[in-house]
This record gives sequence, C-alpha cells and structure tokens, in this order.
Amino acid sequence: AYNGLAPTPPMGWNDWSYYQCNISEALILKQAKALVTTGLAKKGYNTVTIDDCWMAGTRAVDGSLQANPKLFPDGMAYVANKIHAMGLKFGIYEDAGTNTCGGYPGSWGHYTQDADTFASWGVDYVKLDGCNVPNVAGQTAAQTYVKAYDQFSKALVDTGREIVFSDSAPAYFQGGPDWQTVIAASSKVANLWREGADTALGQESGAAKWSAIAYNYSYNVGLGQYAGPGHFNDPDFLLAGDSGLSDTEMQSQVSLWAEMAAPLISSTDLTQLSAAALSILGNARVVAVDQDALGAQGHIIQQGDGYDVLTKPLANGDVSVVLFNKSNASQTISTTASAAGAAQASDYRLTDLVTGQSTASTDTIAANVPAHGTVMYRVHAGASSSLAPALSVRFRNGAL
Ligand code: GLA
Ligand code: GLA
Repeated sequence: AYNGLAPTPPMGWNDWSYYQCNISEALILKQAKALVTTGLAKKGYNTVTIDDCWMAGTRAVDGSLQANPKLFPDGMAYVANKIHAMGLKFGIYEDAGTNTCGGYPGSWGHYTQDADTFASWGVDYVKLDGCNVPNVAGQTAAQTYVKAYDQFSKALVDTGREIVFSDSAPAYFQGGPDWQTVIAASSKVANLWREGADTALGQESGAAKWSAIAYNYSYNVGLGQYAGPGHFNDPDFLLAGDSGLSDTEMQSQVSLWAEMAAPLISSTDLTQLSAAALSILGNARVVAVDQDALGAQGHIIQQGDGYDVLTKPLANGDVSVVLFNKSNASQTISTTASAAGAAQASDYRLTDLVTGQSTASTDTIAANVPAHGTVMYRVHAGASSSLAPALSVRFRNGAL
C-alpha cells in the first residue's frame, strides 16, 4: 500500500453499532480488556477504535481537537497508553467535513493539525467519515471528496507515525455515477474504505440486522477488483454477540466477510459474548481465510434460487469456497472444485472451516445449508495430502 500498512484486512473492535454516543473512558478500556481476556486479541482483533461523539463541542483555543472532558477525563493520550499497554492498537474517528455525522467538530480546514494531534496522542488508526463535506465552487462533489481524502491521507503519512487510514468517501456516493471512481481513488490513498450503508445499530431487531448484513454483502461482493494487500473494501461491522441474530446468521456474516477479505471489526459488548459468538469470531480457520497473504477478495461463481457460491484464491494454492443460502428455507447447494478454480487434481480434500472436519471428493462440493446459513470449505488439490498434518506432528515431536 501507499503507506506499507495493513497487508491483510484490519481487525479489531469499534463502539459505534452497539453503543453509539454512550461511550466513556471506562467503557472503552473495559472493552479493550475484554478483547484480551476473551482471547480475541491473540486471534488478530487488535485495534480498539473510538467512533463519533468522543469530542468536546468546540476546538481548543489553539484550534486543536479536544476530548469531551466528561467522557474522557484523562484525555486521549492516556487512553492510547492504556490500550498500548494491553498490547493493542488505538483507533479514533474524525470527519472530513465541517462537522462529524454526530455534529462534533469536523476536520475541514484542519487536516494537518488534526493528523499531528492524532500522532501526538499515539493513534494507530483513523476512521475519517464524510458527513458535512462542503460544496466547493468549480468542483463536483466527487472531486471534492477525492481531494479531501487524498490530503488527509498525506497529512497522516507526513506525521511519520504508522497510522492505518479508514476512508468513508465512497459511502457517500453509493448508487450514484461517481461511486466506483471514488472507490478507485480511495484504494490508492487508504487502507480500507466504507463504500456503502451502515450495518444495523445494536438496538435494532435481529431481523433488521440480518437484512443489513445481506444488503452490505450484496453491494460489497462485486467490488473485488479494488481489494488487495494494503487496501480493502469495508462492508462495516461484525454484529456477532448480543445482537438478536441466530448463531447461523452470525456465522454467515463472519464467513462471508472472511471470504470477501473484509476488515473484521466487531461492534458488540465483548463482556457478554455467548460461547457460540466467541467461537464464531475466534475461529482460526475462518480468520485465516480473511487474513490470507494473497489479500484477494472472493467473488461469486454461481448463483441460483436464493443462493450464491463464492470462491477465494489463497496464498498456498488452496481455494476457499462458500455456499451461501440467502433463502428462508434450507436447501442443498452444489458446485465443483473445478468451477471454484482449484488446481486440476484427481481428488480434493475439503475442510469444513467451521467444524474442522475433512472429507475427500473427486470434484463435487455440496452441502445442505440451513436458511440464512453458509457452509465454508477450504479446498486442497490432492485428497491424500490429508495425511500431512499427522506427519508434521510426528516430525515436530522428533519421533521420525
Ligand atoms: C456514519 C458512519 C458510522 C458512524 C457514524 C457516527 O453513519 O457510517 O459508521 O461512524 O457516522 O456518527
Ligand atoms: C449517513 C447515514 C448512514 C450511512 C452514512 C454513510 O450517516 O445515516 O446510514 O449511509 O451516511 O455511510
């Protein structure tokens, strides 16, 4: 990437979907600690981002941003230190326009100053939203956004601190003629970008969350050409947790996001994760597909009545295949290893990434998939190589 950061999709936690403006220093540090105690930090969820509403209503006399002293009495450098001491990275929200979406001071006219402030606080990740970007005479809105995000990106690089940049410009052009132009521009100056609607808020129903997930999947899945190491499409937060979603639906979101090389950013109360939600978020086999070094976004190879089949090439030559049942009734979904782009072979090893179980197949990849469910396989050419894990254990033990 332009800044050498985020070779694989960023991972972590953000307060927005679950808490919105009901945030405080104590809450953020409690959630950061939960990332560590749940073991999710070790799985890669390492960035804690404070979203909108952290600021005071006005800038300081020198023009610099300041935290709301009631919510963050010790200031943001203190929060950053505490988060760093837990082995985590610290992210913060601002907006490219005159005000944030929540009405707090935006960065417009202060890009260099704000980037420098964030660097001085020890910020490792900036999410720059795009509400209230003014009209500029002689420019289209798309030109204004592209220029603004380019400038902020440069200001972050110029701080000399390694700061991952999350860009929201494309979200403001979704469905319009300039959408893909703004995505393409974002892919050159940012590590990740929101390109569409917000996922549902925490207090909404499970049904509303599921339709938001299905919708964000539907617009994100076609944008793979813009994704690669250092630059990823962001279809918004993972909602697994206290969400009203079924375990099947939580699993589907995480599997689909991993297949699309999407950032894995949880927004829930991590102190009350169910055992199922924790194992869905923390499934190392699924996370490994998301974090695969090739950085390729999976794409649809087959669609039928209420289902999609996706494939994603992986760095070791395997492919990851997802059978996604969008419908409200279970159905058998079937494809082949050849259709999924697996290397030519007489047989294949299919590893179900949720259960970890392996089976052999000469070509067919099929499963009965529950309503709103996914089945995700890692497909390896050569079924007999399923012996490899046992052998390598013996080598490690020095028994051979
Ligand atoms: C927009 C963004 C959200 C969140 C809010 C904060 O809606 O898309 O992710 O940052 O603003 O106000
Ligand atoms: C506003 C809307 C959100 C979303 C963002 C852009 O904040 O409320 O739903 O569309 O813009 O991401």
